[in-house]
Amino acid sequence: MTKTVVITGANSGIGLGMAHELAARGATLVLGCRNQVKAEAARTAIVGRTPGAEVDVLSLDLSSFEHIRTFATELAARHDHVDALINNAGASPMQQHFTEEGFEMQFGANYLGPYLLTHLLLPQLQVAAAKTGDARIVHLSSVMHNIGRIDPETFTGCSRYFALTAYAQSKLGNLMFSNALARRLPAGITSTAMHPGGVDSEVYRELPALVLKPLRLFLISPDKPSKLGADLAIGDRYRGRSGEYFTAQPPGFASRTSRDIGKQDDLYRRSAALADIEALAVR
Ligand SMILES: NC(=O)c1ccc[n+]([C@@H]2O[C@H](COP(=O)([O-])OP(=O)(O)OC[C@H]3O[C@@H](n4cnc5c(N)ncnc54)[C@H](OP(=O)(O)O)[C@@H]3O)[C@@H](O)[C@H]2O)c1
Repeated sequence: MTKTVVITGANSGIGLGMAHELAARGATLVLGCRNQVKAEAARTAIVGRTPGAEVDVLSLDLSSFEHIRTFATELAARHDHVDALINNAGASPMQQHFTEEGFEMQFGANYLGPYLLTHLLLPQLQVAAAKTGDARIVHLSSVMHNIGRIDPETFTGCSRYFALTAYAQSKLGNLMFSNALARRLPAGITSTAMHPGGVDSEVYRELPALVLKPLRLFLISPDKPSKLGADLAIGDRYRGRSGEYFTAQPPGFASRTSRDIGKQDDLYRRSAALADIEALAVR
């Protein structure tokens, strides 16, 4: 049966790489992107490389709960099942910005938006799980989670904003959410997280040229993480694996905080209240 895979932020970098990889493996793709011109260009590129690829494009801005809810409604109307959701979209603005609901942008759009989206897509994932026993959620975390700290005082911003601190918090949140979710999802749905490696992509677009130029020497192409992401989403090797963290480039260890069940559950419950959804009970 053809797999339907939703990829957020699929118009560039690792998301686009995973889309190419999954299209080549015969998956039907749903690209959730905030910029429709870039999204259409991505669709053209994917179909150009894999003629006949099924690619649906839907507007998704993770910095707005209303937008996320509209995306979920449109997705449900067009696709009765989702075999895999890849929470890939992410950004790291140098200046402090805020989501529509007033959350600091990296906490809000990198972490809380995907948290809400994941819960809204559970019905479609459950349909796939009922048919095949195999539906999956993949979260793009980062090695930077290791220096992250969950600080509720900063969820709605702070007077001394540091982009790296906010980014690390959001990526730690992604990994803790993946782990908390793995203990709550119904049978047949799994949750895993990955660090893609230091990848040459648009995520570094706001870095000064002086920093970016030498950094580029150490960055890898999106190819390797794209293959890992595609494998985690639909590959046989990862079927049934849940609550694990994988890396496309060392180091491969997950921080103690990310593995702390009490801290995971605390963040999970707080986030449910912030996103105004019902928290899932531990299985
Ligand atoms: N590159 C690395 O070295 C690295 C390392 C560790 C983890 N990661 C993670 O890997 C993921 C993919 O990043 P990338 O390196 O491929 O960067 P990228 O090329 O900049 O791609 C990020 C994608 O996310 C989208 N996006 C950002 N904010 C969004 C929002 N509010 N709503 C919807 N879409 C949004 C971007 O859309 P636009 O094109 O419209 O901006 C873009 O499509 C991110 O979660 C990142 O944190 C990357």
